[in-house]
Amino acid sequence: MDFFQVLESRRSMRNYAARPVEEEKLQRILQAVCLAPSAGNLQAFAVYIVRRLEQRQALVHAAFDQEFIAEAPIVLVFCAEPERSAVKYGERGATLYALQDATIACTYAMLAAKALDLDSVWIGAFDEREVSRLLGLPPGHRPVAMLPIGYAGKETRPRPRRPLEEWVNEV
Ligand SMILES: Cc1cc2nc3c(=O)[nH]c(=O)nc-3n(C[C@H](O)[C@H](O)[C@H](O)COP(=O)(O)O)c2cc1C
Repeated sequence: MDFFQVLESRRSMRNYAARPVEEEKLQRILQAVCLAPSAGNLQAFAVYIVRRLEQRQALVHAAFDQEFIAEAPIVLVFCAEPERSAVKYGERGATLYALQDATIACTYAMLAAKALDLDSVWIGAFDEREVSRLLGLPPGHRPVAMLPIGYAGKETRPRPRRPLEEWVNEV
């Protein structure tokens, strides 16, 4: 798949096949994350790999019963590390750049997964404190996105988008 085919074929997947993700593919996804840009190249994020079924099920509850999360064999949890960015950028690093670093990292993982014929769905609706507690995250790691990854179950249709004229502005 070329890059634009990856973009055009990616959909949020909420239905996964009972097929494991190959370890080599997971490693390629993590290597792709490592290539993501970050403010001052500080990479102010951390990624947690959740594989155990009990933990995936616990994440379902922390994410307000989004059951499909546990169907995916792997869930990556992307955390912002505000203090890492604050060292160089102060308040802006802590409150903005670290969140951007973590979300760009998650975007890279999502697109890399698609390029490897895997599917995923960005999960933003969850109780941060509950996720931190379940995974035993250190206080400086703030979970900002979860990414269940696996092979597609059912096909999903593309969601519509706002037309460009609505959101592209010439100044
Ligand atoms: C910040 C963010 C938070 C999201 N949170 C959730 C979520 O909690 N649960 C879910 O099923 N999808 C979630 N999504 C996925 C969106 O619903 C999805 O990307 C959007 O509807 C467009 O569909 P598509 O990804 O198939 O193109 C989230 C996406 C983003 C970027």
